Amino acid sequence: MKDTLPLLDQFNRPFRDLRISVTDRCNFRCTYCMPAELFGEHYHFLPKHDLLSFEEITRLARVFIGLGAVKLRLTGGEPLVRQEIEILVAQLAALDGVENIAMTTNGFLLPQKAQALKEAGLHRVTVSLDSLDDTVFRRMNGGRSGVQEVLDGIAAAKQAGFAPIKINAVVQRGVNDHTVVDLARYCKDQGYILRFIEYMDVGTLNGWRLDDVVSAAEIAEMINAKMPLELIERNYFGEVALRYRYQDGGGEIGLIASVTKPFCGSCTRLRLSPEGQIYTCLFGVEGIDLRGPLRAGASDEEIAEIVRGVWSRRTDRYSEIRTEQTGVAAPKVEMFHIGG
Ligand code: GTP
Ligand code: 5AD
Ligand code: SF4
Ligand code: SF4
Repeated sequence: MKDTLPLLDQFNRPFRDLRISVTDRCNFRCTYCMPAELFGEHYHFLPKHDLLSFEEITRLARVFIGLGAVKLRLTGGEPLVRQEIEILVAQLAALDGVENIAMTTNGFLLPQKAQALKEAGLHRVTVSLDSLDDTVFRRMNGGRSGVQEVLDGIAAAKQAGFAPIKINAVVQRGVNDHTVVDLARYCKDQGYILRFIEYMDVGTLNGWRLDDVVSAAEIAEMINAKMPLELIERNYFGEVALRYRYQDGGGEIGLIASVTKPFCGSCTRLRLSPEGQIYTCLFGVEGIDLRGPLRAGASDEEIAEIVRGVWSRRTDRYSEIRTEQTGVAAPKVEMFHIGG
């Protein structure tokens, strides 16, 4: 049963999107997310019994849909390294009231998985690809993949019938900023919706500095100089990307200005971690545990009541206040733990 009134937080933001991180593992080691020197062979990822089972995730998703979630996004870590993830997709797709199930993936396993995901009922895929320059890309992902493997993954998604496909690229100054126009041109030609993301200070491990951020305005200008752009309307309340259209009619491109133009005012997202904690912000410090109550026999209504309490007390707006922050910040949750 759906609640009739929207669930609102302290700033009147409704809860609408659930991002489900299905694993903290990943087959890449992007320097801005899971630097290889910190996530080596001996790193302790969550043991299997700590992860929510597919049945537990599906049950929680049903409760979240009752509270207003219309969009579900599967993330990680890398969601495709979770065994038989298509079974979870099928269970989620069978829930009443789901309008949209999407996945954010690095694309490496899509050649094996795209068809099964489509058949299971996944609606959309977003693939991360930071550069078309093989040397640059390998440097950014910790040497785990060349460009071609990811392009093969994207092609497999297209072949399976996913459309339109979105591509996410994080831009870091002095690392891949000289390759953004090439990537834009390629995606324009292929009909993919590319979104450039400002490099963020998520987690505590990537050594983020404001100087490394290339602003969305700067990126737009680099592209506009070669392929003229015009700003277009948002698709929906809370969309994170600023959308632009190529003036020659060659499709659209997005810029996600999380650092220079934060969008906390319309943030409708809640994140579920692989071990069943909820976070009301990407920059959360502490999650609220749902797995404990779930495994102790709580009813759907009891779980819904916990989530209502958490959301209605929510005051997060980290990106808006980042610049006002002083002193030593509390240790934030890592991005691979709660999804991008
Ligand atoms: P669509 O449903 O396709 O519009 O997806 P989306 O815009 O939610 O896209 P996606 O999940 O791919 O998010 C793109 C990127 O935006 C993420 O990888 C993050 O880097 C950034 N992002 C997404 N949500 C948030 C958020 O709540 N806060 C901040 N600061 N950044 C976010
Ligand atoms: N800043 C911006 N985006 C990031 N992502 C991961 N870490 C960061 C960061 N520090 C993005 C990835 C991917 C999604 C899962 O999150 O590039 O597109
Ligand atoms: Fe893996 Fe994505 Fe993090 Fe890269 S950004 S290490 S692909 S979870
Ligand atoms: Fe939402 Fe937190 Fe991101 Fe702001 S910083 S948009 S509140 S997740």
